[in-house]
Amino acid sequence: MIVIKLGGSVITDKEKDSHFNKRITYRLAEEIASAGKKALIVHGAGSFGHPQAKRYRLNEGFVDKKRQVEGISLTHFSVRVLNLKVMEALRHAGIPAVSIPPFPFIDESFIEKAKVAVKDGLVPVTFGDVVLDGNVSIISGDILMEIFAREFEVERAIFVTNVDGIYEDPERKDSLIKECTVKELEKVFFKGNAGADVTSGMAGKVKSIKEIAYSGVEVDVINGRKPGRLKDAINGIVAGTRVRKNE
Ligand code: IPE
Repeated sequence: MIVIKLGGSVITDKEKDSHFNKRITYRLAEEIASAGKKALIVHGAGSFGHPQAKRYRLNEGFVDKKRQVEGISLTHFSVRVLNLKVMEALRHAGIPAVSIPPFPFIDESFIEKAKVAVKDGLVPVTFGDVVLDGNVSIISGDILMEIFAREFEVERAIFVTNVDGIYEDPERKDSLIKECTVKELEKVFFKGNAGADVTSGMAGKVKSIKEIAYSGVEVDVINGRKPGRLKDAINGIVAGTRVRKNE
């Protein structure tokens, strides 16, 4: 089984509020279908969640509850709208997908629901969302990837992004890391871009990638804007960054 995250930067246009990249998402769904492997799917929120969550400071806990209640409803609504669009793309490609939202919070029943779906031959799809965990917070798709990788027998985790992989220095095109161990990844310094979005961009992603690789699952980071790369990655051929699992 493969666990795949379709990043918000690929399936949406992060520059425009609530803009769905339909053509790209439909192609990625076709690539997943034609690769023909069992999959669990996670997707990000992109412009259907980040601007809304930031506007209402949902990643800071309850700081202005009266106002934030509207923000919780709006953010959850927006990510559900995006999820329906992704579901349409997956179903169009012939994937028997079912949606399992993390709202209002993640507990054992979330995993149970995903396991029941897999057992019956369905493909669970979950997504980054706002959650009420005693307070208010944001659960990113990256954290959901960690949960799936831990709870299922997963052979590989694939992060589909809008860049070619992990760069030692994002400013230097020649610094793409093609393959590394998780220990080597520890040595790479990531400039935080926490201001950019509510789940801290690539720095947050790398933290989850390390977690997954340490738990014994290979992680690949690829560019979903380049046709064929997702299908190849599902089949074990990676044009991007391969983080070897910790053995
Ligand atoms: C963010 O999820 C969820 C919300 C902001 C509601 P992700 O952090 O996984 O989304 P992307 O992939 O960066 O867009």
